[in-house]
Parts: sequence; C-alpha cells; structure tokens
Amino acid sequence: MSDLDTFMRIVKKRRSTRSFKPDPIPEDALRNILDAGHWAMSGGNGQPWEFVVVKDGETKRRIAALQSAIRKWTGPLELSRTPEVRHPGGLDRGEGLAPFAVAPVVIAVLGDPRTLITSVVAASILTGEREVFNHNMANAAMVMHLAATAAGLNSEWISVSPVWEGSLKNILGVPELYRLPVMVALGYAAKEPKPGFRRDLDDIVHNEKYDMSKFRSSEAVLSYIAEIHKKR
Ligand SMILES: Cc1cc2nc3c(=O)[nH]c(=O)nc-3n(C[C@H](O)[C@H](O)[C@H](O)COP(=O)(O)O)c2cc1C
Repeated sequence: MSDLDTFMRIVKKRRSTRSFKPDPIPEDALRNILDAGHWAMSGGNGQPWEFVVVKDGETKRRIAALQSAIRKWTGPLELSRTPEVRHPGGLDRGEGLAPFAVAPVVIAVLGDPRTLITSVVAASILTGEREVFNHNMANAAMVMHLAATAAGLNSEWISVSPVWEGSLKNILGVPELYRLPVMVALGYAAKEPKPGFRRDLDDIVHNEKYDMSKFRSSEAVLSYIAEIHKKR
C-alpha cells in the first residue's frame, strides 16, 4: 500500500467520538500524537502551541462540569433556532457531564500569542491576529486527531469558547497570557461512531474559476444542515 493510500485510509477512518471507555491508552501512542501535533504548520513557524496532558479523573470531571454549566445558559439560545437546524452540542439535555470526562486522556491545546510576531505584521493588522492564532492551533489539533486514528484510537474535538476559557486555564494553572481554544480527548470508543458523511467531491471542486452552477441557495444550505443533524 502506498503512503498516499495509507494516508487516505486514515483520513477517512477518523471519526469524532463522543463516548469513551475508561481504558488507558499506550504511552508511546500518546507521545507520538503529541509529537505529530507539534509538527503542524504555523504562520512564520511561530509554533505557538504547548500541550497540557490531563489524565487525572478529578481534573477531567471539573473540566466537563465547566462545559455542562455553560450549556445551561447556551441551551435556551440554541432552542431559539428552528428544530431542524439546532445543534445538539448547544443544548442542555440534562445528561450530566460530557463523555470526555471518561476519556483516559484529554489534551489541552494552548498557545502563546507572543509567537505571532514571527508572522508578517500585515497578517495581524489586516487579518486579525486571533484568526491567525486559531488557524495555528486548529492545525496542531487536526494533526493530533489523524495521529490518534493512525494509532488505532478514537478522538473528540472539544471547542473551548472564550466564556469558559478563563476558568479552564485556572483549573490547569495556565498563565494568563496564554490562550486555550481547543482540547483533544483521546481513548477507545465505547460505541462505534456513526459512518462519516461528506458532500460529494464534485459538488465542491471548481476548475479554474468558481462554477456558479454549483452555488447553493440559502434554502439548499439550510436543508443540508438539517440533513446533517438528522445523521448525528
Ligand atoms: C472548529 C471545530 C469545532 C468543533 N467543535 C466540537 C465540539 O466542541 N465538540 C465535539 O464533540 N465535536 C466538535 N467538532 C467535531 C465536529 O462536530 C465533527 O468534525 C463533524 O461533525 C464531522 O464529523 P467527523 O469528525 O466524525 O467527520 C468540531 C470540529 C471543528 C473542526
């Protein structure tokens, strides 16, 4: 099998997992996942990322409790949307702590915004430095998800909103200056994730110029979102 075949198999095999067994994961797999994450691309090679590896059950429960507390007040906001497009992740479904509390490892992907100075100054001024920063952090997280799949593990992307970022940083003792936009939960899935779903490749690829015959109406986008939520 060629490297490309192997890579495509891993890309398509990766699925977001939202239920974990408590079983520990091999230390060498964890080390490789962290190693892969720190080989991600970053603007100006600033490498803003650092990782806090959380295994302690009580710390994970405190983090998950933070997220549950936020849902209590984002829930009503989510309910204001028509049922077809509501995101289940925003709802307070009274289910207690998020399943990542059970995952054997949660990696907090944090970063030092001072490193942005390595990038061209216009990137900060014109694009907005938070945007460049978040691109960098998302890259590191994504590579870790792929490495986890290659290691035979399952993973979940956990977005950290600015609403609970500060409290999370307090729990983990992260310096005030740092930002912590995302966490990666790792473990073995307690139940097989649902099959992946992507739009047809030919619907989204344009040759040379944007093909307006592929442009979607707002109604088509809404029914697409409704279709995605039905598959969850
Ligand atoms: C920017 C971003 C934010 C996400 N936030 C969350 C999250 O907070 N919780 C979660 O369980 N999944 C989160 N996800 C995962 C997506 O829901 C998931 O990738 C998508 O539904 C496609 O499913 P798949 O990963 O199984 O292909 C996020 C993914 C991205 C890229």
